[in-house]
Amino acid sequence: MQLTHLSLTQFRNFSRLDIDVPGGAVLLVGGNAQGKTSLLEAVYYLATFTSFHASHDRQLISFWAKNEPLVVSRIVADFEYSAGKPDRETRQRLEVRLISERDDFGNSRLRKEILLNGVGRKVGEAIGVFNAVLFLPHMLRIVEGAPEERRRYLNLSLSQVTPGYASDLAEYNRLLSQRNALLKQLNERGGDADQLTFWDEQLAATGARIIYTRIQAIHELEKLAGPVLQDLTRGKEVLRLNYVPAFDPLPLSPLQYALPLDAPVNRSGQSVDQIRRGFQEELSRIRHTEIQRGSSTIGPHRDDLRFFSNGIDLGIYGSRGQCRTAVLALKLAEIVWMTQKTGQTPVLLLDEVLAELDPARREDLLDRLLGSEQALVTTTDLDLFTEDYVSAAQIWRITTGQVQVQPTVDA
Ligand SMILES: Nc1ncnc2c1ncn2[C@@H]1O[C@H](COP(=O)(O)OP(=O)(O)OP(=O)(O)O)[C@@H](O)[C@H]1O
Ligand SMILES: [Mg+2]
Repeated sequence: MQLTHLSLTQFRNFSRLDIDVPGGAVLLVGGNAQGKTSLLEAVYYLATFTSFHASHDRQLISFWAKNEPLVVSRIVADFEYSAGKPDRETRQRLEVRLISERDDFGNSRLRKEILLNGVGRKVGEAIGVFNAVLFLPHMLRIVEGAPEERRRYLNLSLSQVTPGYASDLAEYNRLLSQRNALLKQLNERGGDADQLTFWDEQLAATGARIIYTRIQAIHELEKLAGPVLQDLTRGKEVLRLNYVPAFDPLPLSPLQYALPLDAPVNRSGQSVDQIRRGFQEELSRIRHTEIQRGSSTIGPHRDDLRFFSNGIDLGIYGSRGQCRTAVLALKLAEIVWMTQKTGQTPVLLLDEVLAELDPARREDLLDRLLGSEQALVTTTDLDLFTEDYVSAAQIWRITTGQVQVQPTVDA
């Protein structure tokens, strides 16, 4: 798919942007704090309806407008599907409005509206309509950071390709907080523990769908990322992605604990219903402990994913370079995976990632990106790019929230 036009209003430091977007590579060049990342953030928002940066949508609204009684921050994108999306019109328009309204007492309220071709949609309906894969300098955190980073990564990617995943996730979180409130109450004040049965059933049903989707996706991603890492390391490293579910539908028997940590456990044969039943049984088995703790201890909210290369856990023993290359392999695999799942090539968004890579990896990445349908790539330094890449790209100069398209010089 391809973004053809982007307009922003009161979004971060863009008071107004209206720009045609060509296919192929677009290089966003500018000094620090000019708006490069913000522009990518706006595009990625259309794929996930959340910011990869901000902890709250309110931060996306331009500072200078924040004291106005009514502010509408807007992202509008026109994009086109490539051939092979028979169920949908080729041309689409997606719009997000973040509306901040202040009442007479000075309290402000934020609303989010999503319009697909002019018709209002819920997040769960609009997610996956536009697809993007994001490369960030701190994506190393996917390997090195806390499990939360990996869950977030999985959730953002899976929401885009698996219909219903985003809604399941929202529902799961809602159920989790209700169940936690009840556990806390039972812990503090006692009461009838059978009240939990209703929440256990619901949590297990929704949680099982999430676990099932994660099992399948990690399996698929691993198959694609393995060869990419081998390629990037000239055959030296073999990657394994090891899903570590907090409720394991296929727990290891005590005999298996002696196996190496990266030994493959194939959970992909488990049906959603098998997982649901197992999850629910486990919840009733550990009920007493959970009441004592006053919170839910198993389920997708506690899942982890580990990266192994040649048998070592990269998150613990990997060198910086090894981790970086593994994430790069994962991200490159994600592009192929998303294309296979949706029938459309995602728009690629790369924020300042080249500066982090050694020259060989940099060239590897640029070679792989050269043929992409559309990639928006930010940089403070054009010298990091090969001449071939720069001459094939359209160059946008970004200065304080304004974009100037650099005219192409015809040879
Ligand atoms: N809500 C907002 N309203 C107005 N300006 C904002 C808002 N949020 C952030 N900014 C400002 O927008 C500017 C652009 O930030 P951005 O992260 O896009 O810069 P950048 O070009 O990616 O810079 P760098 O090269 O340092 O990464 C910064 O000066 C930032 O402080
Ligand atoms: Mg930036």
